[in-house]
Amino acid sequence: MTQMAFSMRRKFSLSTYYLLAAAVLFVSCHSQKESAEMNSKTLSGANASFKPGEVWLEDNGQPINAHGGGLLFRNKTYYWYGEVRGKGASRGVNVYSSKDLYNWKHEGLALAQVQDTTSDITVGCIMERPKVIYNEKTKKYVMWFHLELKGKGYSAARAGVAVSDNPTGPFIFLKSFRPNGNMSRDMGLFVDDDGKAYHIYSSRENYDLRIALLTDDFLSPTTKDSLLFSKHREAPALFKYKNNYYLITSGCTGWDPNKASLHVAASLFGPWQYVGDPMVGPGAELTFGGQSTFVLPVQGKKDAFVFMADKWKPKDLADSRYLWLPVSFKNDVPFIEWKDEWKLSDLDHNLQTNK
Ligand code: DGJ
Repeated sequence: MTQMAFSMRRKFSLSTYYLLAAAVLFVSCHSQKESAEMNSKTLSGANASFKPGEVWLEDNGQPINAHGGGLLFRNKTYYWYGEVRGKGASRGVNVYSSKDLYNWKHEGLALAQVQDTTSDITVGCIMERPKVIYNEKTKKYVMWFHLELKGKGYSAARAGVAVSDNPTGPFIFLKSFRPNGNMSRDMGLFVDDDGKAYHIYSSRENYDLRIALLTDDFLSPTTKDSLLFSKHREAPALFKYKNNYYLITSGCTGWDPNKASLHVAASLFGPWQYVGDPMVGPGAELTFGGQSTFVLPVQGKKDAFVFMADKWKPKDLADSRYLWLPVSFKNDVPFIEWKDEWKLSDLDHNLQTNK
């Protein structure tokens, strides 16, 4: 090889080397950026994280319409029941299904309002805060919800009960009433480890929070119905953690957000002890703009819970947003912090840092 040929070849290989290095750098930076962008979406375009307060689309690209809702886990599937809202109007109860909590399929109207004007659930009534539980003995799915009769504002203050053989409905409306004669507005249901079920409800113009043990078929309240406390609270969300019952509630300011509170008790019938505001960090004093509706125990993860709230938009209730946030623990006391984006795997970290 001549001196010239050698130096040309050296120049060539050096420049090839630099080019290659630049290309590798470019590709790696680019793919790093891309993988950061894809953090919340998988290759198929599915959701892979929660983004509280953002529009949440179901599988067909429509915004999820399931407000004041609650979840049920059955047959390895989560079912999300919630209020269907038009511009402001209540339209019934929607149900969605999911295997992973991020991606939801609309299963349709679980409970529809009816044309029959003599029915308690005639079109124009208000159905709020639906919750569904499964009865192992009767093999029925039982829905309870807050019902206001058509044209009567919020004065009826009743609980409605509907039942279905399938988680996706259609649910058959059975009856509405004031439990044991008590007004009943915001509500939740809770099934304890022994299979007994309870209705937790705001009563006496929301000044009282009450709890009633349900009959074995879950269709009616028993007379074991007692006052939890009289603190003018609503939006009850109850969960059990390490043999204690925890209850998150909101104040009563209509659709406007307010400060949440956390109570704890060793027994569902009390005494209930005030713990404080479970929300922590910026935005905590107004529950990050939301109002509690449910606390979900995550399947397959011990002591892992998701706090669910609604960020109401009274002028366009359908566009009210969902705030799902991880429940953390410090010295075994639950607390909730804002996250712009998070994943279920973050709950494992929460448990490890429970000190
Ligand atoms: C607050 C309740 O929590 C909601 O479910 C709804 O009833 C609004 N009040 C109506 O103002």
